[in-house]
Amino acid sequence: MSNDDIGVNPSTEPSFSALVDMALSRRTVLGGIAAAALVRQVDFSTPARAAGMAGPSLTFAEAPHSIGESHQVAPGYDASVLIRWGDKVLADAPSFDPLGQSAAAQARQFGYNNDFLGYCPLPAGSGASDHGLLVVNHEYTDSWLMFPGLTEKDGATKVTREQAQIELAAHGLSVIEIRKLNGHWRVVEDSAYARRITLDTAMAVSGPAAGHDRLKTKDDPSGRLVLGTLNNCAGGLTPWGTILTAEENFHQYFAGVPQGPEAAAHKRLGLVGKPEYSWGQYFDRFDVTREPNEPNRFGWLVEVDPYDPKAQPVKRTALGRFKHEAANVVVNANGRVSVYSGDDERFEYLYRFVSRDRVDLLNRANNRRLLDDGILYVAKFHADGRLTWLPLIFGNGPLNPGNGFHSQADVVIEARRAADLMGATPMDRPEDVETNPVTGKVYMMCTNNTNRKAEQTDAANPRANNVHGHVIEMVPAMVDGQPDHTALDYTWSVFLLAGPKGQGRYHPETSESGWMSAPDNLAFDPAGRLWISTDQGSAQATNNIPDGMYAMETEGPFRALSKFFYACPRGAEMCGPMFTPDGKTLFVAVQHPGENKGSTFDAPSTRFPDFQPGMPPRPSVVAITKKDGGVIGS
Ligand code: FEO
Ligand code: CA
Ligand code: CA
Repeated sequence: MSNDDIGVNPSTEPSFSALVDMALSRRTVLGGIAAAALVRQVDFSTPARAAGMAGPSLTFAEAPHSIGESHQVAPGYDASVLIRWGDKVLADAPSFDPLGQSAAAQARQFGYNNDFLGYCPLPAGSGASDHGLLVVNHEYTDSWLMFPGLTEKDGATKVTREQAQIELAAHGLSVIEIRKLNGHWRVVEDSAYARRITLDTAMAVSGPAAGHDRLKTKDDPSGRLVLGTLNNCAGGLTPWGTILTAEENFHQYFAGVPQGPEAAAHKRLGLVGKPEYSWGQYFDRFDVTREPNEPNRFGWLVEVDPYDPKAQPVKRTALGRFKHEAANVVVNANGRVSVYSGDDERFEYLYRFVSRDRVDLLNRANNRRLLDDGILYVAKFHADGRLTWLPLIFGNGPLNPGNGFHSQADVVIEARRAADLMGATPMDRPEDVETNPVTGKVYMMCTNNTNRKAEQTDAANPRANNVHGHVIEMVPAMVDGQPDHTALDYTWSVFLLAGPKGQGRYHPETSESGWMSAPDNLAFDPAGRLWISTDQGSAQATNNIPDGMYAMETEGPFRALSKFFYACPRGAEMCGPMFTPDGKTLFVAVQHPGENKGSTFDAPSTRFPDFQPGMPPRPSVVAITKKDGGVIGS
């Protein structure tokens, strides 16, 4: 079908200048820090203003759009590895020894497959751009790239108990303290903030599902204390100085064919007795025939306080259980917060949570329960350019005992099924969703969906066999001149269609290097320019372009003019884009370098970043700065 007749109603969208005027005149009911934050947001030179309508504000020359063994960044920039898998996190961690790994060492070292990066300034609330904490998710492990003698198909069968224990310790999160000295970022050794969170770290459960029978296990008869967090993909920062980490593909760790009352719910999440890991052989809790409720303890958003290394992480069940890609928080003018989160699977949904109470930006301790009370919604995209948020509330419409929902706990545990019954719009893998800090518009990455048939296309998912994905722009209703992320109705349109030029839809001046496939995560720089990271998976080989970072303006004459900024090494996907508040550092996460067909520990497709004989590829966090010290992208 034509890609040009997608349901869009531009007349419903306020102009950009109107939005800026509204933002400048917005009444700040929060006071204090919030007022300062709001003013700061609109004080930046906006792209349109900076451009003076003469040319794009993103003036960098593009990076090579080609796959190499190492990474490549735009000319005039430095990209240096800050920390790699196996590097010291805790002061007493041993040096990395790829042939002498142990679970005890890994639990003190940087974990595998870095994904979300959260930069939290030091001191807290300071806005410092040269000193802070970096919170890092370790999403998953690639046993065949971590240990000798294995291939990709051996993950669930040949991995030993000891290797499985290393894998458990390589999951979770790291918190590191970092400092920029003479233009270069370094990890602070012996930091009091340094922390590893693994599958041994105890976490509390809060919200409607806390203590529910469906969360109880032999090890935890309370249903309120979970060991660890699984498959932490992306996440988000909260305005009160914590982070949310998103549990995504938790199903792949569980062995055993589900039976009994949880079987259907597990199946809806892909838990069908075909694990990708060996853990079920060694640990009862990863075998659903022994612990049928253990999977119900994963698939949540988990709140972590990086400023207190002793603080127990909390699984916030009010935000629903599904394959959370990320979680991004925005403060509304009335002080309530909205959290956007996509469910990254083909034909799954976009969700939004709105808090009942107001955030307290002057006393962070007062926000401890903010994400426990509120309403979870799911998105319905109408063909006429409207978006409706459908509330997932027990007792509302079909969410009743006749359909197997007996409380709000059931609704959040089976959020997907609740969303099905409410009539949400099945999307092409909704991944990261973030709000532009300058305009208030919301952007959703739809990575791809090769399973969508022609008869299943709709306005918001306009392509059958959607190999390359697309980006959707959502505009909240305006209330008193401000974008209201609590509103029940938004408008939406397709911002870009990914794919090679000619197949995709970008600004017409996009170069041959500016096309992307599989938009996954995103970040906004302080000027409100959109930076997209990609994850093509195995399609990297057929597309023959690297994963990496693309930058573009979202408003004005250069809207959706995509430029390629940074290329991952072979086999890697790009994760974690995060700017410092001054826009002068872009942190990115190079995830699974060398994850190509046939690539192994013994014969990897790249040995990034060390390139030493015998050293396997190592997932790495990279700090990108401009050689002249300027703003990234300028
Ligand atoms: Fe973990 Fe959806 O990427
Ligand atoms: Ca992702
Ligand atoms: Ca991904």
